Amino acid sequence: MKAELYIRHIGQLLTCRPVDGKLPLTGSAMNRLEIIENGAIACQGNEIVAVGTTAEVDRQIDLVNRAVIIDADYQVVSPGLVDPHTHPVFAKTREDEFEMRNMGKSYMEIAQAGGGIRNSTRVLRETSKDTLYDNSVKYLDLFLQYGTTTIEAKSGYGLTTKDEIKQLEVIQMLSENHALDLIPTFLGAHEIPDEYREDKTAYVDLIINEMIPMVAERNLAVFSDIFCEKGVFELEESEKIQTAAKEHGLELKFHADEIVNLEGAQLAARLGAVSADHLVYISDTGIAAMAEAGTMAVMLPGTSFYLDLRDYAPARKIIEAGVPLALSTDFNPGSSVTVSLQIIMTLAGNKLKMTANEIINAVTINSACALKQEKNIGSIEIGKKADIVVWNAENIRQLPYFYGINQVDKTIKNGRIVYDSQGTK
Ligand code: NIG
Ligand code: FE
Repeated sequence: MKAELYIRHIGQLLTCRPVDGKLPLTGSAMNRLEIIENGAIACQGNEIVAVGTTAEVDRQIDLVNRAVIIDADYQVVSPGLVDPHTHPVFAKTREDEFEMRNMGKSYMEIAQAGGGIRNSTRVLRETSKDTLYDNSVKYLDLFLQYGTTTIEAKSGYGLTTKDEIKQLEVIQMLSENHALDLIPTFLGAHEIPDEYREDKTAYVDLIINEMIPMVAERNLAVFSDIFCEKGVFELEESEKIQTAAKEHGLELKFHADEIVNLEGAQLAARLGAVSADHLVYISDTGIAAMAEAGTMAVMLPGTSFYLDLRDYAPARKIIEAGVPLALSTDFNPGSSVTVSLQIIMTLAGNKLKMTANEIINAVTINSACALKQEKNIGSIEIGKKADIVVWNAENIRQLPYFYGINQVDKTIKNGRIVYDSQGTK
């Protein structure tokens, strides 16, 4: 079989393919991960065409003229990382708020005083599509450098029909033109904008009657998300908005139980959401409801870390209850300003008490499931996209162990090397 790209002598090839075929991975299956020693992967076009030991794949393939051959030097290779929760399109950074928090103000205090998401909204409305596009490209480049090959990307800084559409169009343009793939999510229910502070119902109606139908009609989003939180969108409002989104064919995600427990997880489960995210203050009933419904938990320990909160989501309880878990950066200009799933891996180890196998499954195959992309990405299997990371690491446990340094040697997206730590592109 023909191959244009061949990676061989992989010390540990982490395939992340489900050992018993069941997805998403839950419970003890999250801790199982197939490792091929001295492995090899062959790719043709943007697809993986052979996987096995170096000896096996050597025999199977026929390298085309000028094929790219990578000797992995017995290091680790994994699927391209998948980040299932990000807010990457924004007009301006918010370092002033970081300092305000360090001087004692809380995230919610800053938000209620008109900062936070509303601050980002005011600036985004004044910013052109081209500028937003250019601003985002530098972050998308960084995602690739840090080993991420697909992200979910939310709107939520426009908060008018026109500006939400503008943000989703930028996401679409980025996905079309940039090597990174972006899966779009509508987040018009991210905050109540300045002009509706005295009339929240009118804003909820605007989302339901105007934004959702238009976003759905123009096919600008796969998911609808909401900041279901005390003082933002309460349970009843969240239910109305997400029910409307579902009726328009959007899949559901929730920011749930992030700052206080509102039992948002149960609502997500009841409405058949694909995932409920954050869940720092999820209750036992919330966990049980998610397990029953098969709603995935997306954990974002970078947010607790960056907001310097004492609490982290109860990942162990969630895994033990059989809720499938994925990990994400929550990259956004306010509560988590990192594109690195590598630092999230470290936090998942020491704050969420997850094992290396669980962590790697949670940033690959399970995060692909959280985006309903498990047929295309998230594991090294024949027929899947050639999205691959060659690491500067000798074994899987070194991935969460090192922190704050980029361990990526090469990122391969759609069969092409898009980042090389040696500098060649
Ligand atoms: O996931 N909680 C709401 N949304 C984001 C923060 C967005 C922002 O602060 O700009 C989050 O934490
Ligand atoms: Fe978020």
